[in-house]
Amino acid sequence: MARRGHSAWLQLAAALLSFTAAAAAADCRSGKFPPGRSFQRCSSLPVLGASLYWTYHPANGTADIAFRAPQSSGGWVAWGINTQSVGMVGSSVLIASQDGSSGAVAVLTTVLESYSPSLRNASLGFDVPVPPVAEYVGGAYTIYVTVALPMNSTVQNTVWQAGPGSTGAIAPHATSGQNVQSMQRLAFLSGHSTGDSNSRIP
Ligand SMILES: *[C@@H]1O[C@H](CO)[C@@H](O)[C@H](O)[C@H]1NC(C)=O
Ligand SMILES: *[C@@H]1O[C@H](CO)[C@@H](O)[C@H](O)[C@H]1NC(C)=O
Ligand SMILES: *[C@@H]1O[C@H](CO)[C@@H](O)[C@H](O)[C@H]1NC(C)=O
Repeated sequence: MARRGHSAWLQLAAALLSFTAAAAAADCRSGKFPPGRSFQRCSSLPVLGASLYWTYHPANGTADIAFRAPQSSGGWVAWGINTQSVGMVGSSVLIASQDGSSGAVAVLTTVLESYSPSLRNASLGFDVPVPPVAEYVGGAYTIYVTVALPMNSTVQNTVWQAGPGSTGAIAPHATSGQNVQSMQRLAFLSGHSTGDSNSRIP
Protein backbone atom coordinates (compact mmCIF):
# COMPACT_ATOMS: atom_id res chain seq x y z
CA MET A 1 0.00 0.00 0.00
CA ALA A 2 2.70 2.44 1.04
CA ARG A 3 4.72 1.39 -1.98
CA ARG A 4 1.87 2.03 -4.37
CA GLY A 5 1.28 5.44 -2.83
CA HIS A 6 4.94 6.21 -3.23
CA SER A 7 4.97 5.35 -6.92
CA ALA A 8 1.79 7.37 -7.46
CA TRP A 9 3.60 10.36 -5.97
CA LEU A 10 6.54 9.74 -8.26
CA GLN A 11 4.23 9.61 -11.27
CA LEU A 12 2.54 12.82 -10.21
CA ALA A 13 5.91 14.49 -9.66
CA ALA A 14 7.07 13.33 -13.10
CA ALA A 15 3.88 14.62 -14.72
CA LEU A 16 4.26 17.97 -12.96
CA LEU A 17 7.89 18.18 -14.01
CA SER A 18 7.13 17.55 -17.66
CA PHE A 19 4.23 20.00 -17.46
CA THR A 20 6.41 22.77 -16.04
CA ALA A 21 9.14 21.98 -18.57
CA ALA A 22 6.61 22.36 -21.37
CA ALA A 23 5.27 25.55 -19.83
CA ALA A 24 8.79 26.93 -19.55
CA ALA A 25 9.26 26.48 -23.31
CA ALA A 26 7.39 29.70 -23.98
CA ASP A 27 5.50 29.96 -27.25
CA CYS A 28 7.56 32.35 -29.34
CA ARG A 29 4.44 33.70 -31.04
CA SER A 30 3.45 35.56 -27.88
CA GLY A 31 6.71 37.53 -27.93
CA LYS A 32 6.36 41.32 -27.88
CA PHE A 33 8.93 43.80 -29.18
CA PRO A 34 9.51 47.51 -28.88
CA PRO A 35 8.13 49.73 -31.66
CA GLY A 36 10.22 49.47 -34.82
CA ARG A 37 11.21 45.86 -34.24
CA SER A 38 9.27 43.02 -35.82
CA PHE A 39 10.23 39.65 -37.22
CA GLN A 40 8.66 37.38 -39.83
CA ARG A 41 9.49 34.06 -38.20
CA CYS A 42 10.17 32.60 -34.81
CA SER A 43 11.19 29.36 -33.20
CA SER A 44 10.56 28.28 -29.63
CA LEU A 45 13.90 26.70 -28.92
CA PRO A 46 13.73 23.29 -27.23
CA VAL A 47 15.63 24.17 -24.05
CA LEU A 48 16.37 27.04 -21.65
CA GLY A 49 13.01 28.67 -22.40
CA ALA A 50 14.66 30.57 -25.23
CA SER A 51 13.17 31.86 -28.48
CA LEU A 52 14.67 32.98 -31.74
CA TYR A 53 12.99 35.53 -34.02
CA TRP A 54 14.21 36.54 -37.44
CA THR A 55 13.56 38.05 -40.82
CA TYR A 56 15.66 36.62 -43.65
CA HIS A 57 16.50 38.81 -46.64
CA PRO A 58 17.27 36.55 -49.61
CA ALA A 59 18.49 39.46 -51.77
CA ASN A 60 21.57 40.01 -49.61
CA GLY A 61 21.73 36.88 -47.47
CA THR A 62 21.28 38.69 -44.16
CA ALA A 63 19.00 37.90 -41.26
CA ASP A 64 17.70 40.37 -38.70
CA ILE A 65 17.69 38.37 -35.49
CA ALA A 66 16.35 38.64 -31.98
CA PHE A 67 17.36 36.03 -29.43
CA ARG A 68 15.40 36.06 -26.17
CA ALA A 69 15.95 33.96 -23.07
CA PRO A 70 14.80 34.26 -19.46
CA GLN A 71 17.56 34.77 -16.93
CA SER A 72 18.19 36.54 -13.64
CA SER A 73 19.46 40.07 -14.17
CA GLY A 74 22.88 39.18 -12.78
CA GLY A 75 23.33 36.33 -15.24
CA TRP A 76 24.01 36.19 -18.96
CA VAL A 77 22.57 34.70 -22.13
CA ALA A 78 24.21 33.98 -25.46
CA TRP A 79 23.36 33.05 -29.01
CA GLY A 80 25.62 32.19 -31.89
CA ILE A 81 26.49 30.27 -35.01
CA ASN A 82 29.11 27.59 -35.38
CA THR A 83 30.45 27.56 -38.93
CA GLN A 84 32.48 24.39 -38.35
CA SER A 85 30.35 21.89 -36.45
CA VAL A 86 27.47 21.50 -34.05
CA GLY A 87 28.63 22.47 -30.58
CA MET A 88 30.21 25.11 -28.42
CA VAL A 89 33.84 25.18 -29.48
CA GLY A 90 34.36 27.23 -32.63
CA SER A 91 31.09 29.11 -32.26
CA SER A 92 30.86 32.81 -32.94
CA VAL A 93 28.65 34.07 -30.13
CA LEU A 94 27.00 37.20 -28.81
CA ILE A 95 26.80 37.34 -25.01
CA ALA A 96 24.47 39.76 -23.23
CA SER A 97 25.01 40.64 -19.60
CA GLN A 98 24.27 43.49 -17.29
CA ASP A 99 26.86 45.74 -15.74
CA GLY A 100 26.66 45.22 -11.99
CA SER A 101 26.79 48.90 -11.06
CA SER A 102 25.20 50.81 -13.95
CA GLY A 103 22.67 48.15 -14.97
CA ALA A 104 23.53 48.82 -18.61
CA VAL A 105 23.22 45.76 -20.85
CA ALA A 106 26.33 45.13 -22.92
CA VAL A 107 26.94 42.65 -25.71
CA LEU A 108 30.26 40.89 -25.98
CA THR A 109 31.11 39.20 -29.27
CA THR A 110 33.67 36.42 -29.33
CA VAL A 111 34.70 33.17 -30.97
CA LEU A 112 34.76 30.38 -28.39
CA GLU A 113 38.22 28.86 -28.86
CA SER A 114 37.86 26.15 -26.18
CA TYR A 115 35.64 24.92 -23.38
CA SER A 116 37.37 27.54 -21.18
CA PRO A 117 37.14 30.48 -23.58
CA SER A 118 38.98 33.75 -22.95
CA LEU A 119 35.78 35.74 -23.75
CA ARG A 120 37.81 38.49 -25.40
CA ASN A 121 35.53 41.02 -27.09
CA ALA A 122 36.43 40.39 -30.73
CA SER A 123 35.14 40.04 -34.28
CA LEU A 124 32.83 37.16 -35.12
CA GLY A 125 33.45 34.62 -37.86
CA PHE A 126 30.89 36.35 -40.10
CA ASP A 127 29.82 39.87 -40.98
CA VAL A 128 27.53 41.77 -38.67
CA PRO A 129 26.18 44.63 -40.82
CA VAL A 130 24.06 45.96 -37.95
CA PRO A 131 25.97 45.77 -34.63
CA PRO A 132 24.27 44.02 -31.72
CA VAL A 133 22.36 45.67 -28.93
CA ALA A 134 20.56 44.00 -26.06
CA GLU A 135 17.92 44.76 -23.45
CA TYR A 136 16.80 43.23 -20.19
CA VAL A 137 13.02 43.41 -19.82
CA GLY A 138 10.56 41.33 -17.81
CA GLY A 139 13.12 38.82 -16.59
CA ALA A 140 14.53 38.08 -20.03
CA TYR A 141 17.46 39.25 -22.08
CA THR A 142 16.94 39.99 -25.77
CA ILE A 143 19.86 40.34 -28.17
CA TYR A 144 19.18 42.12 -31.49
CA VAL A 145 21.63 41.72 -34.34
CA THR A 146 21.77 41.50 -38.12
CA VAL A 147 24.10 38.84 -39.44
CA ALA A 148 25.28 37.92 -42.90
CA LEU A 149 24.56 34.21 -42.81
CA PRO A 150 27.92 32.43 -43.24
CA MET A 151 28.55 31.05 -46.75
CA ASN A 152 25.23 32.70 -47.65
CA SER A 153 23.64 29.48 -46.44
CA THR A 154 20.15 29.45 -44.98
CA VAL A 155 20.96 26.39 -42.83
CA GLN A 156 23.24 27.06 -39.89
CA ASN A 157 24.47 25.30 -36.75
CA THR A 158 23.11 27.49 -33.99
CA VAL A 159 23.94 27.47 -30.28
CA TRP A 160 22.49 29.29 -27.31
CA GLN A 161 23.16 29.43 -23.62
CA ALA A 162 22.31 30.99 -20.26
CA GLY A 163 24.53 31.15 -17.23
CA PRO A 164 25.21 32.91 -13.96
CA GLY A 165 27.20 36.02 -13.28
CA SER A 166 29.89 36.46 -10.70
CA THR A 167 30.65 40.00 -9.49
CA GLY A 168 29.88 41.42 -12.91
CA ALA A 169 31.76 38.73 -14.79
CA ILE A 170 30.45 35.96 -17.03
CA ALA A 171 30.68 32.77 -14.99
CA PRO A 172 30.63 29.31 -16.59
CA HIS A 173 27.23 27.78 -17.32
CA ALA A 174 26.13 24.42 -15.94
CA THR A 175 27.59 21.47 -17.81
CA SER A 176 24.60 19.16 -17.60
CA GLY A 177 20.92 19.03 -18.54
CA GLN A 178 19.52 21.77 -20.75
CA ASN A 179 22.82 23.66 -20.81
CA VAL A 180 24.42 20.91 -22.90
CA GLN A 181 21.39 20.44 -25.18
CA SER A 182 21.24 24.00 -26.43
CA MET A 183 22.27 23.58 -30.06
CA GLN A 184 20.49 22.85 -33.31
CA ARG A 185 20.78 23.10 -37.06
CA LEU A 186 18.29 25.73 -38.06
CA ALA A 187 16.87 26.39 -41.51
CA PHE A 188 16.29 30.13 -41.74
CA LEU A 189 14.17 29.77 -44.85
CA SER A 190 11.62 27.29 -43.54
CA GLY A 191 12.14 28.02 -39.89
CA HIS A 192 12.53 24.33 -39.14
CA SER A 193 15.27 22.71 -37.18
CA THR A 194 16.80 19.67 -38.81
CA GLY A 195 14.90 16.61 -37.64
CA ASP A 196 11.84 18.34 -36.23
CA SER A 197 9.61 21.30 -36.84
CA ASN A 198 9.13 23.34 -33.73
CA SER A 199 8.92 26.71 -35.38
CA ARG A 200 6.02 28.78 -36.53
CA ILE A 201 5.31 31.97 -38.32
CA PRO A 202 4.28 34.38 -35.59
C1 LIG B 1 19.40 43.57 -46.91
O1 LIG B 1 18.17 43.63 -47.58
C2 LIG B 1 17.11 44.14 -46.80
C3 LIG B 1 15.81 44.00 -47.57
O2 LIG B 1 16.01 44.24 -48.91
C4 LIG B 1 17.41 45.58 -46.42
O3 LIG B 1 16.37 46.10 -45.64
C5 LIG B 1 18.71 45.60 -45.64
O4 LIG B 1 19.07 46.92 -45.33
C6 LIG B 1 19.82 44.93 -46.40
N1 LIG B 1 20.95 44.81 -45.52
C7 LIG B 1 22.19 45.08 -45.88
C8 LIG B 1 23.24 44.89 -44.85
O5 LIG B 1 22.47 45.46 -46.99
C1 LIG C 1 22.71 34.74 -51.33
O1 LIG C 1 21.92 33.74 -51.96
C2 LIG C 1 20.79 34.27 -52.63
C3 LIG C 1 19.99 33.10 -53.15
O2 LIG C 1 19.68 32.23 -52.13
C4 LIG C 1 21.23 35.16 -53.75
O3 LIG C 1 20.09 35.72 -54.39
C5 LIG C 1 22.07 36.30 -53.18
O4 LIG C 1 22.60 37.09 -54.22
C6 LIG C 1 23.23 35.75 -52.35
N1 LIG C 1 23.85 36.84 -51.66
C7 LIG C 1 25.17 36.95 -51.51
C8 LIG C 1 25.64 38.12 -50.72
O5 LIG C 1 25.95 36.13 -51.97
C1 LIG D 1 32.62 45.00 -27.25
O1 LIG D 1 33.07 45.90 -28.25
C2 LIG D 1 32.02 46.66 -28.84
C3 LIG D 1 32.61 47.45 -29.97
O2 LIG D 1 33.74 48.14 -29.57
C4 LIG D 1 31.36 47.52 -27.78
O3 LIG D 1 30.30 48.27 -28.36
C5 LIG D 1 30.79 46.61 -26.69
O4 LIG D 1 30.22 47.38 -25.65
C6 LIG D 1 31.90 45.75 -26.13
N1 LIG D 1 31.31 44.81 -25.19
C7 LIG D 1 31.74 44.69 -23.94
C8 LIG D 1 31.00 43.69 -23.11
O5 LIG D 1 32.68 45.32 -23.50
